[in-house]
Amino acid sequence: MTQPQPIHTTHIPGRVRVLTGAKPTADLHVGNYFGAIRPAIEASHDPAKEVILMCVDWHGLTDRAKILEPGKFSASLLATYLTMGFSLENNMVILQSEIPEIPEMAWYLSCVSAVGLLERAHAYKDALGSGKEPTVGLFNYPILMASDIVTFDAQVVPVGKDQSQHLEYASDMVKLFNNAVGRPVLFEPKAEIQPTPLLIGIDGERKMSKSYGNHVPLFAPKKEIEKKIKEIKTDSKGLDDPKDPESCAVFQIMKSFGSKEAIAYMEERLRQGTGYGYGHAKKDLIDEHERVFGSKRELYEHYLNSPRELAQVLAPSHQRARTIAATVRQRVRDALSLGIL
Ligand code: ADP
Ligand code: TRP
Repeated sequence: MTQPQPIHTTHIPGRVRVLTGAKPTADLHVGNYFGAIRPAIEASHDPAKEVILMCVDWHGLTDRAKILEPGKFSASLLATYLTMGFSLENNMVILQSEIPEIPEMAWYLSCVSAVGLLERAHAYKDALGSGKEPTVGLFNYPILMASDIVTFDAQVVPVGKDQSQHLEYASDMVKLFNNAVGRPVLFEPKAEIQPTPLLIGIDGERKMSKSYGNHVPLFAPKKEIEKKIKEIKTDSKGLDDPKDPESCAVFQIMKSFGSKEAIAYMEERLRQGTGYGYGHAKKDLIDEHERVFGSKRELYEHYLNSPRELAQVLAPSHQRARTIAATVRQRVRDALSLGIL
């Protein structure tokens, strides 16, 4: 922390508030589970943390051509976190567009941020460079993200390396705001850059990503999962040859979600080779996928088909989140002498 923090914060003593943002997209896959979903679920079981998992649907709107997508996929993202065991006890799972304090905060931050700062943002520069006509929404993306963070007095924000500039911007905006009003009002967040390596896709070459079509979905029908796993590219080693697990995509994917036992078994059998070919490894991976995700498919679909129940389960989260947001909002409005009373 480089500057004094607000005295009156909304934190619970002994718990660090961690905020994670996840964009709603189609077809969540094992790579997402490994890199984003599982770490957040694990954090939700840590008694020293208060985790806010926010589905950032507003962030998904910045591309005009895909403006109808976030609304369609939010429920699937929220249902996935709940199904896979995110603990709501002392934590929150929320939808960004349910929190009107966020865009209000974005306005305040936009009034202390220079245009030049946003012009240097990677995502905006990339969009310009590729000949697209960026929307104002895309230009303002870093401000909205900083608002997500400061609206909840977030202390720690775990992100991938690609998000580090956004976190630097959030800190810059906090400093600019606090300096402008002459006292610490907003809480400065700390980025926690995730060490998780990228999971390889079924082509055995590139990172698993739905844009490459090399992904293994989480809750697709069993037949589809089997087909994807059978397509995993392997080398030409025979049934009885010893095989190197580290260079085997089947094993890498097993490592990303399998139980300790399933991982250890596959590793040992591959190394020994004898009587254990890639077909066997794929069969074991299919079984483990079915055990970890397939067995929860019904619960996942239940949430998807009962939006009312999903909303009910999340109601206490939204209530608590809005209480925090209202407190921070009032702090900011007081600092700016806004309002009549
Ligand atoms: P995709 O590449 O399929 O479009 P996203 O970019 O929507 O996936 O990913 C959302 C989050 O999921 C990322 O921020 C990252 O944390 C995680 N993630 C995605 N792909 C991988 C991967 N191959 N390995 C590890 N984590 C991943
Ligand atoms: N920009 C992030 C991404 O693309 C998503 C995000 C939006 C976010 N708001 C956030 C992440 C707040 C952490 C905290 O992955």
